[in-house]
Amino acid sequence: MIQVEHLTKRYGDKTAVDDISFQVHEGEILGFLGPNGAGKSTTMRILTGFLPATSGNAKVAGYDVFTDSLNVRKQIGYLPENVPLYHEMRVSEYLMFRAQLKGVSRKERRAKIQEALEKCGVIEVQNQIVGTLSKGYRQRVGLADTMVHDPRILILDEPTIGLDPNQIRQVRALIKELGKRHTILLSTHILPEVEMICGRVIIINKGKLVAMDTPENLISKLRGVATIHLEARGPFGQIKAGLEGVPGVLSVKGEDGTETHRFVIETDKGRDAREEIFRAFVDNSWVLLEMKKETVTLEEVFHQITTREAEEAVPGGEEPAFKGGIKETVSSLFSKIRG
Ligand SMILES: Nc1ncnc2c1ncn2[C@@H]1O[C@H](COP(=O)(O)OP(=O)(O)OP(=O)(O)O)[C@@H](O)[C@H]1O
Ligand SMILES: [Mg+2]
Repeated sequence: MIQVEHLTKRYGDKTAVDDISFQVHEGEILGFLGPNGAGKSTTMRILTGFLPATSGNAKVAGYDVFTDSLNVRKQIGYLPENVPLYHEMRVSEYLMFRAQLKGVSRKERRAKIQEALEKCGVIEVQNQIVGTLSKGYRQRVGLADTMVHDPRILILDEPTIGLDPNQIRQVRALIKELGKRHTILLSTHILPEVEMICGRVIIINKGKLVAMDTPENLISKLRGVATIHLEARGPFGQIKAGLEGVPGVLSVKGEDGTETHRFVIETDKGRDAREEIFRAFVDNSWVLLEMKKETVTLEEVFHQITTREAEEAVPGGEEPAFKGGIKETVSSLFSKIRG
């Protein structure tokens, strides 16, 4: 749905986007992750036809971004970094104005606006003046704006920035819902956000693409191994040997209890060995009382990596300096992925 090839953007001698290539497939929600200044907004502005590239190609829904930007804009709903709302208009007036601007036919306008109002949960404020809305509601109106011409693709630049935790949760749920009908490219520097909403993630740092994968794979690549915890009953030595023979199992640590035994198994990264472990138990008639795969959130992984820098940055602070620390994080993430 979106194809980006060797895209580069320079501002003078500063390279904001450096030879990046990626695709967004139809129907997916792709997370575009990176620290401040990574080049996320620049890339999005190029894709939406608001900014020329220095070199490279980009196509949106088959249309060339550089030669056919009018058609590209029809396919895209774009939520820019700073939502440019007209503060003196009422919400419904604003959306009417925007629908008109986007060429929604007079006949369809009311219905499309109604739909957008409903989807974004802004019906109750439709008669309110935009300038008097809370930030969360303004963001929702911005989202309603992106979809009023029923585009196939939504490009959302940090849609949850500046919202309170409640609003963040609501907007995330809304985006997930929108993902059922639209292809979405979403930028953020918040890891849990990506993990919650996105099927796939691209990470850029200093203009360069440093990783492209599913959130799950990124985690397992980072960790190198997946850990499975077992509680079992039966002949300890045999079970341990049996587990060691399961494909993908790297190591088995066991605790020989009188009644039940505990095992901690490390398996290949990215490989889910649970089914084969289960079969080993069935084939040998051992009793499996519990099997649990250790799950790590992307945030925990990032936290682990950033903790040192964060502790240094915030003396005695419980909260890591996420925005500051993440710069280090993405590079460490990259070197880990490469290594
Ligand atoms: N108009 C401009 N002129 C010069 N440099 C610019 C311009 N716009 C952006 N840049 C630079 O390009 C780089 C990428 O900026 P961009 O806004 O794309 O980053 P971002 O990933 O969106 O960051 P953030 O998370 O802070 O929004 C930054 O170093 C920025 O300073
Ligand atoms: Mg930005």
